[in-house]
Amino acid sequence: MNAALNPEVASMAPPRIVCRQVNKVFGEGAKQVQALQNVDLTVGDNEFVTFVGASGCGKSTLLRTLAGLERHTSGDLLVSGQAINGPGQDRAMVFQHYSLYPWLDVVGNIKFCRQLKSHTTGRTSADVEAASGRADALLQLMGLGHVAHAYPNQLSGGMQQRVAIARALMGRPQMLLMDEPFGALDAQTREVMHDLILHVHRLERSTIVFVTHDVEEAIYLGHRVVLMAPRPGRIDTIYDVPLPAHRTQDMKLSAPFTALKAEILNRIRETSGIKTDLEQLERLSRQAQA
Ligand SMILES: Nc1ncnc2c1ncn2[C@@H]1O[C@H](COP(=O)(O)OP(=O)(O)OP(=O)(O)O)[C@@H](O)[C@H]1O
Ligand SMILES: [Mg+2]
Repeated sequence: MNAALNPEVASMAPPRIVCRQVNKVFGEGAKQVQALQNVDLTVGDNEFVTFVGASGCGKSTLLRTLAGLERHTSGDLLVSGQAINGPGQDRAMVFQHYSLYPWLDVVGNIKFCRQLKSHTTGRTSADVEAASGRADALLQLMGLGHVAHAYPNQLSGGMQQRVAIARALMGRPQMLLMDEPFGALDAQTREVMHDLILHVHRLERSTIVFVTHDVEEAIYLGHRVVLMAPRPGRIDTIYDVPLPAHRTQDMKLSAPFTALKAEILNRIRETSGIKTDLEQLERLSRQAQA
């Protein structure tokens, strides 16, 4: 039987991500920062996992390490069963700042990396044609058809981020790594983007790892929410989101949603160290006055 059709074989496929006792240390001596400490995590194929946690708890470091932009100090980090060895076509990253090429129009931006690849690998014009079909499909999917030939400075922030996502999807990555991708957008645009990225996830069936400071966003999008804590950066708690797979905006008012939101917010407060910082500040100012 074809392995792809055999459920037993399919279920033996390695998880998309495995982190085992992953550590990442920046700097040396007194300046050493433990950005990640003993991170253990398994993410399945087609899963949507969101990360929250206080500033400096290592969310971006973990994402950059998964992207192959950063090398972990120790532990095992596997993507589809293979050790990560630098960036790869199977992983695409989307940042908070859209980083589009200002001299290219929307279509040009979406196709840029693909065209670059066709030049560097000496591919034929058939590859460029195939890229055009994919680019057109992504333009429609992201609702960008009417601005296909506009330049980035003529687009709203939400539209620019749609272009950045379309560009990331262009090479059909198995994994989308998103670092606060909607952080710079207003609340209404974010809501639209949430439903759009869920739609993209259903259609493209990629695994999504998504970092945010917005707990509501993390719950609405994620199958699981991973809460990280700082100093040292580590995973504190992993929450299963008790909502149906197909999310709708009205679920944000449901009891399971609001209860989980309260629980996570509370835990972020407990783990962020902000209270400790304030207490220390108070102690120092008392000492200064004495
Ligand atoms: N290139 C680097 N060199 C030295 N230290 C770094 C470097 N990158 C990150 N760090 C440190 O590692 C820790 C984790 O940083 P990271 O950017 O991963 O946090 P974060 O959770 O993404 O924070 P934020 O929510 O503010 O984006 C921080 O203490 C940070 O100062
Ligand atoms: Mg960050």
